[in-house]
Amino acid sequence: MFDPTELQYLNPNIDRRIAIVTGGNSGIGFYTALHLYLHGYIVYIAGRNKTRVTKAIVEMKEVANVKTLQYSPDQVTERYNGELFFLEIDLLDLNSVIRAAEIFKSLESSLHILVNNAGVMALPFSLTKDGFEIQLQTNYISPFLFTTRLLPLLEKTAATPNKIAGSTEPIQPRIVYVSSIGHHFAFRYFNMNSHFQYYPNIMFTWFRYGIAKTAAIHFMKMLALRNPKILCLSVHPGFVMNTNLFAYWTRLPIIGILFWCLFQIFGYIFGVSNEEGAMASLKCCLDPSLNVEQDNGKYFATGGVEASPSRVARNMDYAARTWIWTLKELGNREISI
Ligand SMILES: NC(=O)c1ccc[n+]([C@@H]2O[C@H](COP(=O)([O-])OP(=O)(O)OC[C@H]3O[C@@H](n4cnc5c(N)ncnc54)[C@H](OP(=O)(O)O)[C@@H]3O)[C@@H](O)[C@H]2O)c1
Repeated sequence: MFDPTELQYLNPNIDRRIAIVTGGNSGIGFYTALHLYLHGYIVYIAGRNKTRVTKAIVEMKEVANVKTLQYSPDQVTERYNGELFFLEIDLLDLNSVIRAAEIFKSLESSLHILVNNAGVMALPFSLTKDGFEIQLQTNYISPFLFTTRLLPLLEKTAATPNKIAGSTEPIQPRIVYVSSIGHHFAFRYFNMNSHFQYYPNIMFTWFRYGIAKTAAIHFMKMLALRNPKILCLSVHPGFVMNTNLFAYWTRLPIIGILFWCLFQIFGYIFGVSNEEGAMASLKCCLDPSLNVEQDNGKYFATGGVEASPSRVARNMDYAARTWIWTLKELGNREISI
């Protein structure tokens, strides 16, 4: 399992590096944001609910205080916490996504790490007000739009020499997309127009989730080709059963209890903790051995182990088609990239 505590800690007063973690107010995103904060990053937690994010920021600072109490005297002098901010974004509303990127660009002149972590899973079929299937928009379309709107800033960061770190080499910015092993539900003959709006939802919802998570892996692979100075990676965090991702199923009347028990048993046998679930993302964010020359477009699984995504996800023909499909769909909504 990747261990971020073995890595270098930044002093944000000297080396100010910025990260965004979408959905950083709960589950895997919470621990991703926490460890970046502990490593001295200025972290923007992008979420749709200010109260929930503000509460998470308070909790994060408390957890950070407990962790820093365990530092040795040497570590206390060498390790610095960063800062935590709220950035409003609702992935169910493309205007909100565009606004969030604009607000961020007005606040910061660089971006070193973008973690597209926010997501939903296995929801019943519904369309957003932008006319996309709910899982597709939350898990893929909105992260695509958010990322492409932030690309100029990431490119600028990639072109700026990092004199502080004692080198003229720029820091390679990183984009991490939290996909899922569930991307395997997108079978052969992958088609972005497939809605799988069939009964029963308990089965077809997984195909919709699979398409969204596969499309986002395609996106990372295409970005890696198009923007070779930015490290673009996708991850499967592991089975993390105590997050809010399963809330739709566990909150169903009566049968929800059964789902809860099932998920707990599954998690006990195969699962990892919320913090362990963040390690794949954190490896992609922080591991200095990863670089654009060798690792761009790669996929990492639980604990940060390099893995191979599905045949469909790694097929560059499909990836190119997904890219074109997305530009066309956004264009139909008068959004240009
Ligand atoms: N848990 C697992 O076993 C597992 C396995 C594979 C992949 N993943 C992936 O890991 C990521 C994190 O999931 P998690 O398990 O940590 O679940 P989680 O606790 O439910 O976290 C999801 C986060 O996404 C945010 N979010 C959802 N819809 C949003 C929207 N419309 N706008 C803005 N933010 C939104 C949520 O915000 P709110 O609090 O406002 O709802 C929450 O902060 C997801 O992409 C998921 O697909 C998880």
